[in-house]
Amino acid sequence: MRHAGREPPTRRSAVLGLTSVAVAAATRTVPAQADFALELLPPLRSRAQASGIKFGCAGAAPIVQQDAVLQEKIASEANIFIPEGHLKWEFTEPRPNEFNFEGPDSIVDFAARHDMIMHGHTLVWYAAIPDWVARLATAKDARAALERHIGTLVSRYRGKIWAWDVVNEPVEPKDGLDDGYRKSIWQRLLGIDHIDLAFRLARAADPATPLSLNEYGFEYADGTSRNRRQDILALLQKLRDRNAPIDCFGLQSHLQGHKTFDRKELTAFLRSVVGLGYRLMITELDVNDAEVRGSEAERDGAVARHVAEYLDIVFSVARPASISTWGLSDRYSWMRQYFKRADGRPLRPLPLDTDLNRKPMWSVLAKYI
Ligand code: XIL
Repeated sequence: MRHAGREPPTRRSAVLGLTSVAVAAATRTVPAQADFALELLPPLRSRAQASGIKFGCAGAAPIVQQDAVLQEKIASEANIFIPEGHLKWEFTEPRPNEFNFEGPDSIVDFAARHDMIMHGHTLVWYAAIPDWVARLATAKDARAALERHIGTLVSRYRGKIWAWDVVNEPVEPKDGLDDGYRKSIWQRLLGIDHIDLAFRLARAADPATPLSLNEYGFEYADGTSRNRRQDILALLQKLRDRNAPIDCFGLQSHLQGHKTFDRKELTAFLRSVVGLGYRLMITELDVNDAEVRGSEAERDGAVARHVAEYLDIVFSVARPASISTWGLSDRYSWMRQYFKRADGRPLRPLPLDTDLNRKPMWSVLAKYI
């Protein structure tokens, strides 16, 4: 999946103005399409507290700030919050050794105010890097940049983040490199060493927080998923052999509603990952329904069934430490910008609809969390 890694630049007023849920509750209007029986069920957050499987969602701070009802929903449903963009390198270190923590700090405050904890996303990625990083020219400079960046971010948020996605999306067989590595500035200058280095630096800066390698695109019965499963597993094996301090494998879980899971192969893949000693986390769950046919209700049903089948496979191997969705409401899903339906109708990838009402996907999550 190609993404530009861009999100609107942080405006100080927008970021700092995250208001309390009390205001949201007072101004809330009753949604027209709500299924009241569904709305009355206990939130995912209370289920998460009882089961120990955390529930989280991602959000972009300026958007969350503008929507008081969304704030209320996030705070009532989730106990983890993930900044969708603000911790990415282009925002946190736009110029060498010039750090900007306004965005992530406001998110830490928002999370703390609502008794949530932040999930750190992400330290090392091929995308969302500033130009000066893209222009690094030597292995020595790349190493120094990683040392400073990872050391600074991880120390700053020690104790405020429950897990860090240290390396994001290091595999892309279609790039044609040996062993399926993705082309990136890090891979070009340091090879696989950049992955262990990143984890060692993160561990040195914070010995306690779980560290994860985060990947997507391995779920289905097609050649693309098959190649990715093979290359991801070989990489995870190699990183174990090199004693890289990685605790978790993050299953991004950007699902594609019209595809068929390879139940047998996906189960075998996840068993091998767990067998190598990685804990599973579902980090970015959503369903691309660009090619799912039918009315909105039929599409919502298909999305929910797809998620149920997926969670059934994952849980048959191991209970994940957390389940997080990439956004909470269809109104603000990144997928609406990146993927389009032929009929021009907007995608419906998340557990709440555009009016922030619970959808069938919400009920599926409630069964598993
Ligand atoms: C996406 C954000 O949601 C967008 O707002 C941004 O424009 C691009 O990045 N996998 C990831 C996330 O690991 O960081 C991506 O987030 C979505 C895919």
